Amino acid sequence: MDKDIKQQLEDLQKRLRTAPASEKAKIGAEYNQIKTEYEEKQRKEQKEKEERELQEKLNKDPLIDITVPKLGDKVTPFGLHPITIITREVEEALIGMGFIIEDGPEIATEFENFESLNIPTHHPARDMQDTYWLSDGRVLRTHTSMWQNYMMRKYGPTFRAICPGRCFRNESTDATHENTFFQIEGMMVGEDVSVANLVYFMKEITTTILKRDIDIRLRPSYFPFTEPSFEMDATCIFCEGSGCSVCKQSGWVELFPCGMIHPKVLEMGGINPKKYQGFAFGFGLTRLAMFKWGIKDIRLFNSGNLEFLKGSKEVLS
Ligand code: DAH
Repeated sequence: MDKDIKQQLEDLQKRLRTAPASEKAKIGAEYNQIKTEYEEKQRKEQKEKEERELQEKLNKDPLIDITVPKLGDKVTPFGLHPITIITREVEEALIGMGFIIEDGPEIATEFENFESLNIPTHHPARDMQDTYWLSDGRVLRTHTSMWQNYMMRKYGPTFRAICPGRCFRNESTDATHENTFFQIEGMMVGEDVSVANLVYFMKEITTTILKRDIDIRLRPSYFPFTEPSFEMDATCIFCEGSGCSVCKQSGWVELFPCGMIHPKVLEMGGINPKKYQGFAFGFGLTRLAMFKWGIKDIRLFNSGNLEFLKGSKEVLS
């Protein structure tokens, strides 16, 4: 410690011992002030010294990347991100069923995200999706359905295609809500495509991905871009349908929405709805991964927590 300051502090300490009670507070305050200022100065100098040294090191060898772990540092083997794994599994299953994989952009026009899906400007369905609007009027896509129109124009009128990707919604986050999540959109269009085809494919896809024979059921739902619309439920894989906390004792878990593509949507995609029909489905990939691996908190996906990638039990439960 600086001799001068040390002396000053010692003097103050001595005075503190002998001073009358009425002066003690004042001397104490002075003591603290000198000490804090001194420590602050020291910290600043130390920081400047470290920065100087680092800069000198970088000047000597500008190619060194100080963020790279030192050679010989222990590298812990971690796994692929669950979203990567599940995307690959779903893609593989669907390629086997004749689906083409498409890659859509994360930024969508209003037309792509809404109008092309029969959601006009003032349609109340827009309230279903809290949207991030960009200053140029485009949006961060709220669903992978925004690529339906493009796929129909590119491959129509007879095709099967999927489009996986990241979607965004302006949600407040909790264990089951995230503002960034992953979906896969799927479409099959052709002559005589019916709800029977939809049911067959949905069951095949789910069975392949979950690697077990499960029952599915369709419940009526509503989406502006499908008619009729459904929610597809699967038997709960945790209790095999007998009822548990995951499925809220119902034996069923809601897996994904789907439906027959609305004639207006086909038309906007350049496909004649009188001659061709199709079905579409929107897998929530994040949701599917949570279901498959029993992940209880959706926020783990974007947390950067490496223990999560290891599949550590403490993180998952
Ligand atoms: N795009 C819908 C959403 O994110 C999900 C969806 C529903 C996709 C029905 C579909 C469908 O293809 O047919 O909420």
